[in-house]
Amino acid sequence: MADKYSRRDFLKKVALVGGVGLVGLRCQQEPSLLTPTPNKTDKLSLLFTPIKIGSINLKNRLVRSATAERMADNDGAVTDEMIALYEQLSKGDVGTIITGHTFVRTDGRLGMTMMGLDNDNLIKGITRLSKAVHQFDTKLFVQLNHAGIRAQPDIKNPLAPSAQQRNSPKEMTTDDIEQVVQSFGAAAKRAQEGGADGVQIHAAHGFLINQFLSPRTNKREDDWGGSPEKRVNFLLAVFKSIRKATGTDFPIWAKVNGEEFIQGGRALEECLMAAVKLAESGVNAIEISGLGQKRKTRYEGTSKNEPFYLTQAEQFRAKLKTPLILVGGIRNAEVIEMLLKEKGLDLVSMCRPFIREPDLPLKLQNKSVSESSCVSCSACARNNDVPIKCWQN
Ligand SMILES: Cc1cc2nc3c(=O)[nH]c(=O)nc-3n(C[C@H](O)[C@H](O)[C@H](O)COP(=O)(O)O)c2cc1C
Ligand code: SF4
Repeated sequence: MADKYSRRDFLKKVALVGGVGLVGLRCQQEPSLLTPTPNKTDKLSLLFTPIKIGSINLKNRLVRSATAERMADNDGAVTDEMIALYEQLSKGDVGTIITGHTFVRTDGRLGMTMMGLDNDNLIKGITRLSKAVHQFDTKLFVQLNHAGIRAQPDIKNPLAPSAQQRNSPKEMTTDDIEQVVQSFGAAAKRAQEGGADGVQIHAAHGFLINQFLSPRTNKREDDWGGSPEKRVNFLLAVFKSIRKATGTDFPIWAKVNGEEFIQGGRALEECLMAAVKLAESGVNAIEISGLGQKRKTRYEGTSKNEPFYLTQAEQFRAKLKTPLILVGGIRNAEVIEMLLKEKGLDLVSMCRPFIREPDLPLKLQNKSVSESSCVSCSACARNNDVPIKCWQN
């Protein structure tokens, strides 16, 4: 996809959207492929049941998946507009909010309205966000990211695992790798100091960590590449750096691809192997997402009752005891309940439904609706120049 555009055009199309495969989705109704088991008791018995994940208690199973709000200022600082949005979301009773992806170094910034945590001046914004959501007993996770090859246009030679890619990237030296790994730890420490309940490592959607994981973009033959196992080393080093900086109890989650539906990308088995290694290192929860063109084709339009990555989640569940979160295409309360009860998922997360209806959990709880009215048209992902909003009536 990217090769069809100039770098600037490409970034305009996808800038500030963590979900790479969303671009180009059209609003078309299509029948559900997944029929939830009828809810005989008419009770959402698990959805609004608290759960303990690692060292923290979550009041319910709903997560606002990381969503680049495009609301930070030029320094990457939290703005009043963001505080107002986070208050609205937590008032709406979501159990956990994962922030939009947050750059750990300026050379990993995707655009000028992306939030940052690369220096101590930015801690006070996280403190404000934490306070805003904690008053409603909602937990806050900061999603940490480095955009790598997808960094903003004025980064002349963006960092990448290997040089043989578009945009004349700089192939990272061992020193570069160590510095970026360290900056993830430092940013996590700042999130912790700001009162965040945890951090999420963004290892999905084609950003730097994913670029190391994928044979498409990692052609190295040293400790950081050359085999599926070695390609996981960068992610594991980031995890260890965060653990070291934040201590044993601080919750560290990760968002990973369950599969990469893209030529030369990772199949499910390789994605699962990386997740197993992460689990062995002690990650506290894994959110399963995905990447690629095939996803776009397969899920074009609205598939309200069809979680995109259920097949992958089932395989992950069979191999992993780590708490699992599923994201992608989830819209309906009965489907959510089925995922929790029958598929063994611990949490369910949504992005676009919360853009349209920040108070969706309250509505599901008081049964004024049974599903989100988001039609998955992805207009919110395409209009990159303004803060996120729903573009449907
Ligand atoms: C406007 C927008 C911004 C997004 N920003 C991020 C992000 O910062 N980090 C991330 O991991 N995913 C991001 N995503 C992807 C979502 O978190 C989610 O994985 C994807 O939208 C599928 O879930 P949904 O069907 O509930 O929307 C974004 C998606 C949209 C539409
Ligand atoms: S939130 Fe609105 S604009 Fe975004 S996908 Fe849903 S309906 Fe479309």
